[in-house]
Amino acid sequence: MITDEIMKTVSKKIDNSTSLVFLTGAGISKESGIPTFRDHDGLWKTYDPAKLASYSSFITNPKLVWEFFHDRQKSISTKEPNKAHFAISEIELLKKSWLLTQNIDGLHSKAGTKNIIELHGNIFNVKCINCLRKEVLDINAEIPPLCRDCGSILKPDVILFEETLDMDNWDTAINLVSSCDVMVIIGTSLEVGPVNTLPNIAYKNNSFLIEINPQDTWFTPYADFSFRYSGSIILPKIVELLK
Ligand code: APR
Repeated sequence: MITDEIMKTVSKKIDNSTSLVFLTGAGISKESGIPTFRDHDGLWKTYDPAKLASYSSFITNPKLVWEFFHDRQKSISTKEPNKAHFAISEIELLKKSWLLTQNIDGLHSKAGTKNIIELHGNIFNVKCINCLRKEVLDINAEIPPLCRDCGSILKPDVILFEETLDMDNWDTAINLVSSCDVMVIIGTSLEVGPVNTLPNIAYKNNSFLIEINPQDTWFTPYADFSFRYSGSIILPKIVELLK
């Protein structure tokens, strides 16, 4: 039950924040038609991430992994941001904030959010596994695409299982969550490290923690408020109260 009192308290906390951080996961994009990973109808219920989304599987069978990602690129390219993505963009216009996302779908920037760190990369970019050259994917290129500089295979510029995050992005994320006074966590099961350690850092620094997720997570007991609702319900309500 969302009482006006609770919404006013949460919105006031966000309104008074001086360093606001959002952390999002696949759940925020579900209503845009992009499947999550661990819901009952999630991607990993059908596909084996070890075979299709790990670095070792990419090296041993790049064509198979590329076919999996290419299908996702084509599907995601037809999807639009939903009310939750747009609400975060509106809050960013009202309050200086940063968005840390695990999502590779690009919908937050499509919704107009500027201060974004894509901790798991972006499915529309590619990187050469040899010379590390990065470029935007040509979705019609033959797969696996080859680097025009050195001829090596290009990889989707996303963090595959077994890969480490981009160190600059990670350092920035750590600094942001170490100094934020409010953190809003939306649409993530917090099952995957190291991103799932970020809320702990904010918790230890006495940040005000808001979780928005139709299911509870291991983090729910640590949140100051945890809404068992979709992001597209709660976030627009917060925007209305901030205006
Ligand atoms: N609004 C908010 N949350 C939602 C919604 C919604 N409309 N619908 C579902 N959720 C929640 C689910 O309850 C679940 O807790 O979103 C969460 C999605 O969890 P996961 O599928 O585990 O996705 P995520 O947490 O982003 O996974 C992290 O795992 O496989 C890797 O690299 C992949 O970035 C991904 C990482």
